[in-house]
Amino acid sequence: MGTTETLPFQAETRQLLDIVVHSLYSNKDIFLRELLSNASDALDKLKLEALEKHELLEQDPVLDIELVPDPQARTLTVSDSGIGMSRDELVRLIGTIAKSGTRELVEQLKAGPGGDTAASLIGQFGVGFYSAFMVASRVEIVTRKAGTETSTRWESSGDGTYTVAEANRFRRGTDVILHLKPVDPENGIADYTSAQVLRTLVKKHSDFVAHPIKLKEVKDGVPEWTTLNSMKPIWTQSASEVGDVGYAEFYHHLSHDWHDPLDRIALKAEGRLEYQALLFVPSKAPFDLYYRDQEYGLQLHVRRVLIMDHCKALLPPFLRFVKGVVDSADLPVNLSREMIQQDRHIAQMRAWLARKVLDHLAAMLADRRETYQAFWGEFGTVIKEGLAQDTEHRDRLLKLLLFHSTHEGEGPTSLAEYVQRMPEGQASLYYVTGESRAIAARSPHLEAFKAKGYEVLYFVDPIDEFVAQSVHEFEGKPLVSVARAGVEPGSETERKATEDARKSREQELRPFLAFLEQALAETVREARVSTRLTTSPACLVAGEHDLSPGLERMLRTASGKEEGTPTRRILEVNDGHPLVQRLRAMHAGSPEDPSLADAAHLLLGAALLAEGAAPPDPSAFAERLTAFMTREL
Ligand SMILES: Nc1ncnc2c1ncn2[C@@H]1O[C@H](COP(=O)(O)OP(=O)(O)OP(=O)(O)O)[C@@H](O)[C@H]1O
Ligand SMILES: [Mg+2]
Repeated sequence: MGTTETLPFQAETRQLLDIVVHSLYSNKDIFLRELLSNASDALDKLKLEALEKHELLEQDPVLDIELVPDPQARTLTVSDSGIGMSRDELVRLIGTIAKSGTRELVEQLKAGPGGDTAASLIGQFGVGFYSAFMVASRVEIVTRKAGTETSTRWESSGDGTYTVAEANRFRRGTDVILHLKPVDPENGIADYTSAQVLRTLVKKHSDFVAHPIKLKEVKDGVPEWTTLNSMKPIWTQSASEVGDVGYAEFYHHLSHDWHDPLDRIALKAEGRLEYQALLFVPSKAPFDLYYRDQEYGLQLHVRRVLIMDHCKALLPPFLRFVKGVVDSADLPVNLSREMIQQDRHIAQMRAWLARKVLDHLAAMLADRRETYQAFWGEFGTVIKEGLAQDTEHRDRLLKLLLFHSTHEGEGPTSLAEYVQRMPEGQASLYYVTGESRAIAARSPHLEAFKAKGYEVLYFVDPIDEFVAQSVHEFEGKPLVSVARAGVEPGSETERKATEDARKSREQELRPFLAFLEQALAETVREARVSTRLTTSPACLVAGEHDLSPGLERMLRTASGKEEGTPTRRILEVNDGHPLVQRLRAMHAGSPEDPSLADAAHLLLGAALLAEGAAPPDPSAFAERLTAFMTREL
């Protein structure tokens, strides 16, 4: 036997362990569900690995979980013949929390109000095992990794350190031995050596576990084994058999997410291909939803046999938040990962599943608005990604979009609702971009639209720029930015009349506009008379074929070229505004006056600030403003 090594828990782990044991779970019984879930995961992993390494199963074909209570010794052992852990894995998986972001998480936990927030944050990390310390004063793990000869014993009282030593385990797999705390009904600690208690808990939380959970009872000195769980695949049962609680338990087990799911989607395809799916929409976005290496995908079963844990090929990336299982009657059981990527059946299933999920979400929007808005708040951005990535599902995706808008109703609006509110004569859908709703709402570009009673959508999520870029119409009506040259509210005839009037005013203002163009040449490529402004003196608009400034900013940031010169835009001035009238008179009277150029720059700076952008040279802007005030006040 080798030496026993004593190691400290990683600092973050110790803090998490503390939270798990003392405040996380209100119900101490759930430790059993957590340990059974780990055992079941370990058996699944073994099974999946054995698809390629047959010898793993051949040596010991039994896949089960055993519960061995010992009332005299006051221990409960949860034993599995799963994948097991090497010594290194034990230290890494149990002694530390390897997930990126742990430190930040613990910081948030310390800062936050605890309770629900703690649970919701902590639930995203693997901490289930630590729940054992709620009911046990000491926990031992004896484990042997499948396909290896050595085994390891891990032991801890949950107090900051643990020991590891060589052990002697005969079979592959893992024993978790709980040295139980005294029974304490007041504090929710039941007698976990009682067959009756164990039977009830397994039925309640772990009935669907796909491997037999066997209880050892000794009767007259003879051990007897009974299987406690039905092992029925939950998707083959009726909704009334399973019940909401049953589905939620299954979801927790499958997704490692502690929240109850927001919604459940049960699907059955009966055509040339036969398959079933039980899918869940989570109620909270996981913290790694936007990480490139996020592990997503549905569990793929073939005729009830698990063949892949995270099958990405079954869903398009914009539905990666969906959890669940798919069970096919037609696929071969020996489907390799490489084959899955190319398989025609899988491609068909993926298209069908995507359509069904999108239709389900559309029905949710129609019938359960509040639930849908909760969904949208968590996953709306991912749905929008779909529009930028995918044209296959475009029409379905468009129906799911929600935006806030100048119409301040109960909440955000769908495009269809927007269209229904469109007044006579409005032929396009309009949007304004901005960094936030508040900034967008004050955009000078909106003025003429508001005056006309036209609703304008707020595109304030960074990804909205991409939506605008890839979506050009909805139900045959163009989707147009109010910040584009030539975009004006009104019917064809109205717009023509306005445009004619504008042109003739522009004739008169030409010398003044030419002066602005020359003074602001670095930022402005043209100055025009505006028809869209009612209260602001000036605004900037993009040419018809230009990228929007927001998108340009993002592309510049993405390419790392912070410098680059932004496309010069068009300055529109409100010739009815007193400031513009005064400047024009000044220019007509004394075109050489140096304060004219200062005024032009201030006008431009104000227009940029109004749309939430910075003037091209903020410190020069500040200097000019100060100089101006000093002169005038
Ligand atoms: N019986 C077991 N056999 C093999 N590995 C195990 C076993 N129990 C735990 N582990 C390993 O330890 C890790 C940590 O377990 P823990 O239950 O704390 O987190 P998790 O299962 O990953 O996530 P969750 O919070 O959903 O439980 C597991 O991911 C697994 O790799
Ligand atoms: Mg677990």
